[in-house]
Amino acid sequence: MAVEELFRTLSFYTWILILAIIGLVYWYFNVPKNLPPGSAGLPIVGYWPFISSPPYKNFIRLAKRYGPIFHLYLGNRLVIVLNDYAAIKEAFIKQADVFAGRIRDGNFVQNDSERHGLINDDGEYWKQHRRFVLHNLRDNGVGKLTFEPLLLNEIRYFLAVLRKNSGKPTPMKDILYCSLSNNIHLLVTGNRYDYEHPTIQRMIRALYNFAEQGQQVAFHTFFPWISKIPGSNRINTHELRWQYKNELISIAKEIITDVNRDRQAQYECFADAYIAETKLNERNMKSIFSSTGLLHVCRDLLTAGAETASRTMLWGMIYLTNHPEVQMKVQKEIDAVIGRDREPSYNDRAQTPYTVAMITEVHRIVSITPLALPHRNTKEVTLSGYTIPKDTIIIPNLWHANNDPKLWGDPENFRPERFIGSDGRLVIPEYFVSFSIGKRACVGEPLARMELYLYFTSLLQHFDVISLNGVKLPLDGSEKLTRAPIYDVICVREREKI
Ligand code: HEM
Repeated sequence: MAVEELFRTLSFYTWILILAIIGLVYWYFNVPKNLPPGSAGLPIVGYWPFISSPPYKNFIRLAKRYGPIFHLYLGNRLVIVLNDYAAIKEAFIKQADVFAGRIRDGNFVQNDSERHGLINDDGEYWKQHRRFVLHNLRDNGVGKLTFEPLLLNEIRYFLAVLRKNSGKPTPMKDILYCSLSNNIHLLVTGNRYDYEHPTIQRMIRALYNFAEQGQQVAFHTFFPWISKIPGSNRINTHELRWQYKNELISIAKEIITDVNRDRQAQYECFADAYIAETKLNERNMKSIFSSTGLLHVCRDLLTAGAETASRTMLWGMIYLTNHPEVQMKVQKEIDAVIGRDREPSYNDRAQTPYTVAMITEVHRIVSITPLALPHRNTKEVTLSGYTIPKDTIIIPNLWHANNDPKLWGDPENFRPERFIGSDGRLVIPEYFVSFSIGKRACVGEPLARMELYLYFTSLLQHFDVISLNGVKLPLDGSEKLTRAPIYDVICVREREKI
């Protein structure tokens, strides 16, 4: 039969079928060689339709089938999941440089050409900004005593709100958010805002909206072409996230303009230092410091710092409500070491190991950013004998490392004692990974540790966190980019005098 005749005899649908089969064969033969075990899923959508929420729990089930390092295709993007501590360490510590890349089209980035932040960038731009932020945190005494009076001052406002609501069930989400975001404001601009101030209220709304739209495994990353289809906004919230992100940039602009107005700080805040560095490099055409860079880094510090710390504090108050026995032990330690008459100091932590263990246990059991932020390997690399092609998306399952029964025994129990050694001292194992590990580990860790220590000690020094009817509070979380508690009504009551 002539070729032309064959073309004529086959129906349109037969041709579709033939093309689909060719596409399928091409798809399967194009999967790179020597990948870790896993699944390519279906053509076009990959494994996406089979991922159930929350993804970090889904990944644990998949690891039972494929092992601790496995691959998935989501859309047409190759993803490697590192599901246990050993795998995360092998990538993020042993091959730290290669695995420190970020993807450019995740939750926060609109397009490949955008380079202005700390969270989403990599290469020289990110390295210099990260170094600058770390130096500035250190120079401003974060983790040491110089920053402490500013935090204690903010805590006084927080305690005043609690005193006003003593004995009454109180929605705590906004109060914590205002207070803990003020700590980042202090760092960045040297100012704090009253909780009702329009700027902080606007910021809260933008951050809530942004967090609400954020996804641990972002749809847009895997199906970027969807946004080209009219009406796709209903399933693809990326455009909406982009609007909220721009709103955050405009707020960052507003607060930085405030830097030289109503100035309360006695030290060089982050914005001051950044502006000075930009001026110093004005003639250097290759300098990465710019007014746009300042806005984006400030936005990154505010988004990354306020949400995580305030939600962890809220989870902590929920766990304390449900575990009065832990609370009593912490209060006993605080009464013995700090007493009630002076404010706590970060220096007290060496004498209050149980209090630090309690806070660390909150970080562990909650794992507020369960899948961290996606990484990218910047060149082809061998991991556990497998070949990982350049530019693969790497997702570490921090939640599982923090809740792995093989490492923790009874991870489901809230038990601060797991961090206390036989000699009564604090022992934090290396597989505690709430702040992630390696070159991308959280830059705000020293601030987060310091603020949560001072907030929890100040709280329990003066208040009991109580359950009104003896009923335990629910532990449900909204599984977005971070794990926010769904329940936020907490009751605190001033402690009786001793
Ligand atoms: C409870 C408190 C916090 C937790 C559990 C936490 C956790 C994390 C995690 C897991 C990451 C991702 C690391 C990775 O991709 O491997 C991260 C990144 C980051 N965090 Fe935090 N964080 C906290 C508080 C803060 C605070 C207070 C700040 C701001 C001062 C901050 C600023 C950042 C920034 C800028 C990044 C991006 C770092 C980079 O990509 O180089 N975080 N954090």
